Amino acid sequence: MRKITKAVFPVAGLGTRFLPATKAIPKEMLPIIDKPLIEYAVEEAVVAGIKEIIFITSHTKRSIEDHFDTNLELEEKLLKSGKKDAIKKINRNIFQDVTFTYVRQKSQKGLGHAILQAKHLINDESFAILLADDLIINDPSATQQLINVAQKTNSSVIGLNKVPKEHISRYGVISSADISKEQKLFLLDGIIEKPELNPPSDMAVFGRYVLSHHIFNYLEIINPGVAGELQLTDAIKLMLKEHDINGYLYDGIKFDCGSKEGYVQAIAHLASDLLPK
Ligand code: UTP
Repeated sequence: MRKITKAVFPVAGLGTRFLPATKAIPKEMLPIIDKPLIEYAVEEAVVAGIKEIIFITSHTKRSIEDHFDTNLELEEKLLKSGKKDAIKKINRNIFQDVTFTYVRQKSQKGLGHAILQAKHLINDESFAILLADDLIINDPSATQQLINVAQKTNSSVIGLNKVPKEHISRYGVISSADISKEQKLFLLDGIIEKPELNPPSDMAVFGRYVLSHHIFNYLEIINPGVAGELQLTDAIKLMLKEHDINGYLYDGIKFDCGSKEGYVQAIAHLASDLLPK
């Protein structure tokens, strides 16, 4: 497998669970203390060797574009007032050699449809997908772990998380003949989006993927699924009939920041150093 250098960040969702906060601010720009969610995810990708960041955006998400652009006026003011450390925070060295591309998803038809918008930029490569509202804290990062497994197995790999029964119906859930074994890597034989009855396992898809370009063939033919949306899960379900796809139970502290509960937990976790002892 060739080196994985591209990552797609779908950020065009409506973020309805965080209204009214997300009426004018993208969900991905909500801060965890002083850094927006999206920056954690972009940083994770870049540290894992990603050189091309592809955002799938919408007209309400311009502030994401501004966030990763330079702000010369602010930099000049900070320089004049001697705040060099602050300049390093808004113009980060690790992003210097990275390309940022923005593609508009014109109507919000679902995550699968969002990913399909990147087809012309991926060619015949494997690429990473990061859902920025899933914040994962680990070294090596979740993306790095999935890239390592994808390269070792020469396959597509989906990041997994064990989820308690009462919450499993919120996620895509996998099935695998290997599931009874004590291991971290599972060759998928099925996947279902938000199962209401009889989930096939307690292994949920969680925010990170490394997929081969073949996924676009399946994204092009899926029909609307759960919630009337074009679901990435449904394309993966078709793809695994013809290509090996592994699930990997990656290490990390995971926060589902698309939910209020997960968002608050992430802040509490990262704020613990700031609170008086
Ligand atoms: P979510 O299911 O979390 O939806 O999308 P959402 O719109 O962001 O939030 P809620 O549920 O309304 O509160 C999962 C990911 O897919 C992206 C979202 O931005 C998020 O990263 N997405 C979803 C798109 O880019 N386009 C879509 O049409 C739908």
